[in-house]
Formats: sequence, structure tokens, C-alpha cells
Amino acid sequence: MHRTHTCGELRIEHVGQEVTLSGWVQRSRELGGMTFIDLRDRYGLTQLAFNMETRAELCAKARELGREFVIKVTGNVIERSSKNTNIPTGEIEIDVTAMEVLNASKVPPFTIEDDTDGGDDLRMKYRYLDLRRRPVMSKLQLRHRLSIETRNYLDSIDFMEVETPFLIKSTPEGARDFVVPSRVHPGQFYALPQSPQTFKQLLMVSGYDKYYQIVKCFRDEDLRADRQPEFTQIDCEMAFVEQEDILNTFEGMVRHLFKVVKGIDVPAFPRMTYAEAMATYGSDKPDIRFDMKFVDMAPVTQNKGFKVFDDAEAVIGIVAEGCADYSRKQLDALTDFVKRPQIGAKGLVHCKVNTDGTFKSSVDKFFSQEDQQAWAAHAGAKEGDLILMLSGDLNTTRKQMNELRLHMGKELGFRDPEVFRPLWVVDFPLLEWDEETERYHAMHHPFTSPKPEHMAILETDPGAVNANAYDMVINGVEIGGGSIRIHDRDIQSRMFDLLGFTKEEAQAQFGFLMSAFEYGAPPHGGIALGFDRLCSLFGGSDTIRDFIAFPKNNAARDVMIDAPAPIDGAQMEELYLESTAKEKE
Ligand code: AMO
Repeated sequence: MHRTHTCGELRIEHVGQEVTLSGWVQRSRELGGMTFIDLRDRYGLTQLAFNMETRAELCAKARELGREFVIKVTGNVIERSSKNTNIPTGEIEIDVTAMEVLNASKVPPFTIEDDTDGGDDLRMKYRYLDLRRRPVMSKLQLRHRLSIETRNYLDSIDFMEVETPFLIKSTPEGARDFVVPSRVHPGQFYALPQSPQTFKQLLMVSGYDKYYQIVKCFRDEDLRADRQPEFTQIDCEMAFVEQEDILNTFEGMVRHLFKVVKGIDVPAFPRMTYAEAMATYGSDKPDIRFDMKFVDMAPVTQNKGFKVFDDAEAVIGIVAEGCADYSRKQLDALTDFVKRPQIGAKGLVHCKVNTDGTFKSSVDKFFSQEDQQAWAAHAGAKEGDLILMLSGDLNTTRKQMNELRLHMGKELGFRDPEVFRPLWVVDFPLLEWDEETERYHAMHHPFTSPKPEHMAILETDPGAVNANAYDMVINGVEIGGGSIRIHDRDIQSRMFDLLGFTKEEAQAQFGFLMSAFEYGAPPHGGIALGFDRLCSLFGGSDTIRDFIAFPKNNAARDVMIDAPAPIDGAQMEELYLESTAKEKE
């Protein structure tokens, strides 16, 4: 037998028992005639004690063990003389009577402890060692718990998990496809799903009225902290529902997850229209843990001779409470922040609402004390506050102010990762104009239903049409998105026309779906939540990579297995890829 207990299990009440444990040597130290070893497994650490006086040979053997050796020990549980209150097993230790080395280990390239000396790249290369570390393991444990609780919840309300294929053809979610060449069909390719979107809609036609799947999706897009080329969705679809049913169901699910996994009661999610989110926060995924709402400062700042404001389409302000005492250096740092190329503002105007009733702004030349008093009144700034203003064309200024607002929120400590403020953003525009291709793109995807009241202007004023689409946003992160779908063949066909598909293209790509719609498609809608993002949010982190067992790095590489990698000539030939390879040479 390899073990009677785990390394996280033994307590003071086990004293006197003989036990067998197996695990990895985390650390060893010698103290007088004793050798102590911390033995680690998935469940915790247990201290092993080897006594030189009573068992010299065994103790000598223990002294030869290196870090990460795999051993099995048998011994008696005894009470420790100096207890460690930081770990659950800290009151006991094992007085070892027998030991077997199950496997040796090379010296690991970094220390396998909570605080490690290994850099990111090294830990990615030896991910299987990094996964031994407690902080990494606890993230995967959290992921496991969330997936189990998601399944429990959805099962309890009659959702059925159905697997959909990975070898499919393109699904239009807006990213590039990963493709897989077919050996059997020369020159033809499968695409890996960017989402199971079309399949879940077909399942609705088939009558599986509550579908879900915790499923891998593949998107060839630029990576960021919250994006991986393969990621996991909690993908869901329901038939015979309206938007309200979907919002209530998945709000219920997420509140359940907060309750059972984190013990937090999250209040009902507020709803905000896309238009309101953009006007108030300059973002369709506002972080509402803090206010600092946008104020339209144009009415009180324009036509006073300051050209920068006068010529601008928009002057937007925010009020940073209690920041009137910001130093020159701090204000310069804020200006540098908005001038960074990623943000691209030309400058930042500030106005201090001093506690002595005076005002001090960076544009005092153009604006009197009375003018600035009017600003403060308009923006709702009190004595001691700081008003920050950006100007320019509306959309750009909103984006820039969003960045500044988030930056200020962070600086002022308003973005506590243990505070959760979810909301629904609703009434998204159906389409967005793409300057490059000079045509409309579906803002969500082409299967999203226009608002019924906007159907009449679908062709005449497409830009003004709103969709039955919604996003779940938590702490400034887009956790999920979905929509009520088109279930009528003719409307779907009009939608494809609008998006610039010829009849033939639409038929070739989505003929199967349009045909299905001719056989009794029920009204339906759904949502997909980014599971990795949900895990990182629950774990209080911005990076989803930590919550994925084997993630890709920022260059979309798996540096551990070294993928992607070339394939050999024979395999290339078999897949009819030879000519492409030759061209590249
Ligand atoms: P959408 O494209 O909005 O919708 O995706 C749903 C959610 O998936 C997450 N997500 C990602 N997470 C990590 N890495 C990525 N590269 C990545 N891309 C997306 C986000 C996002 O909100 N079929 C529709 C859903 C529907 O209409 O039902 C869809 O895929 O959290």
C-alpha cells in the first residue's frame, strides 16, 4: 500500500497511529540530531522527523534525499514540540520508522514553493512542475469547483449537456479560424469551432430546448491577458424564451456560483443600455465598482476662447474625489498616461477645486474663477476634488476617458478584486460599420435578431437598428454575451444580404441552417460565458492563463511541448500541403 492518508489529513487526534504517506520532498533541514522533511502532495504538507540517535541509518538515508524526490514513509503520528499554526497539519509530525525512495528527481529548475524564484518563461516550459505549486493548484481547484457547480445548477433546471463536433466549417464569431487539412479530401479543410453557435441553434430545431456545454472554442486572434487561442465557454441555448428569460436564468446561475463557491450574496444585476454605458463610462463593459461617471462638460467649457475645447466634438470630464491636493508630479504622470500611444490623447486639462474656495486649472489663462466655479457646479465636484477633462471627437474621447477613469479607479483603490459588481449591458446595435472593408459587420454575430420594432428600418437605416443582444459584465470584464436569434428563414436571408453575402455565399456557408429553419424552428436564444474569465474573476486575477492547466504563451506557443511545429515531408504530402511548403521555401 502506498498510503493510508494524504499529506493534508493528519491532525492531533491521529497521534499514536501508525501511518503510511507518499509524496514529494519539498524541503529538508537538519537540526541537531534530527532531520526534518516537508512531504507534499495535492492535499497539503506533513512534517517527517528522522532521528539520528534512534535510527541512524534511516536518518542518513533521509539526508541524501534531494528536492522533489518521490518517497513513501511509514511511521507514528506524534505531537510536535514546536507547532506550526500556519498549516492544518502543523500540530503533528511523523516519527519515521521506514522509508522507500519511489523515484529520484533532478534538481528542479525553480523552487517549488508558494513563492518561487522561477520566471514566467521557465515556469511555462516546466508547467508540470509549476502545477505542483500550491497557488497554481488552488486556481485549478477553483476551476474544477466552478465547473461542477455550473453543471449542478444547469442540470437542476433541466439543461442537458450535448457535445458538438470540433471538425466543422467556419463559424462567424469575428476572429480567424484555425483550420485542419483533410487527408481524405484533397485540398479541403475543416475549421475548428470559434463557438458551437450554429450547432446549438440546430439543437433547438431538434427540440433540445435547454442545451449547455462546457466546451473548448478556438480563435486565431491577437492574445491579451484575457484571451487565449483555445479557451472554454459555458455555452447555452434555450427555446421558447425571450430575452428576459435568458437574463434571469444566467443571472441566477452566476449568483448561485458566487454563493456556493465564494459565499457571497450578489444583489440583482442592474441593466444598462449600450448607449448609456458608452455615454456614462465610454465602454460597453463598464466597471461599476466605482462611480466617477462621465460628465458632458461642453456646455460649460466651450465658446470661451480655448480653441482646443471650442473645436472639439466632445469635452468629457470626470471628478476624482479628494484629489485636489495632487502634486505637479502626479498630474504630469496622469498627462503622460493619457498621452501614451495606446491611448493617444493630446493632453489633459485639470481643475483643482481647492478647499479654500479657489480654483486652479491648467487653463487658467482662458477661464476665470467664475467659469471654473461653474464647471465644479456642473460636474458636481466638491471642495477638495479634482476635475479631469479630455476633448476631441466623441468616440475617441470616450475611449480615452474610459482608460483614464479605470486608471484613476485603480490608483484610488476602487478596484478591489474581492468586490463584485455585475451588470447586464443590453440593446446593443445590430451592426457596426467597418471603415476598412466599407461594409457592415454583425456586432454580435449574423444570427442575432434585430429588435422587432426596428425591423421596418432594417434596410433603410441599418446603423440605427438595435439587437436583442446582451452582455454580462463583471468588474469591467465581458464575462459573457448572447442574443435572441433569428428563427425565420426570410429574416436570416435579409440579414445575410445586409452583411454583404451574395445568395450563393450565404447558401454555401449557412445553407444547412437556413434549411433547418424551414422545418419548424422554435423561437430561441442563448448566451456563452467565458469560463476561463469567470475563473480568473473568482480567483481575483486579470490573467486567464493562470487558470488553464496548459496555456499558450503570448505568442500563442506551447513552449513545453513546443507547438506549433513543422510536420515531416511525408505528412505534408499526405495532406496535400507539399506545394504550399515548397512555395514558402
Ligand atoms: P462571444 O464571442 O461573445 O459569443 O464569446 C462569449 C464569451 O467567451 C469569452 N471569450 C474568450 N475568452 C478567452 N479567450 C478568448 N479568445 C475569448 N473570446 C471570447 C468572453 C465572451 O464574452 N456564440 C456566441 C455566444 C452566443 O451568442 O450565445 C459567442 O461565442 O468571455
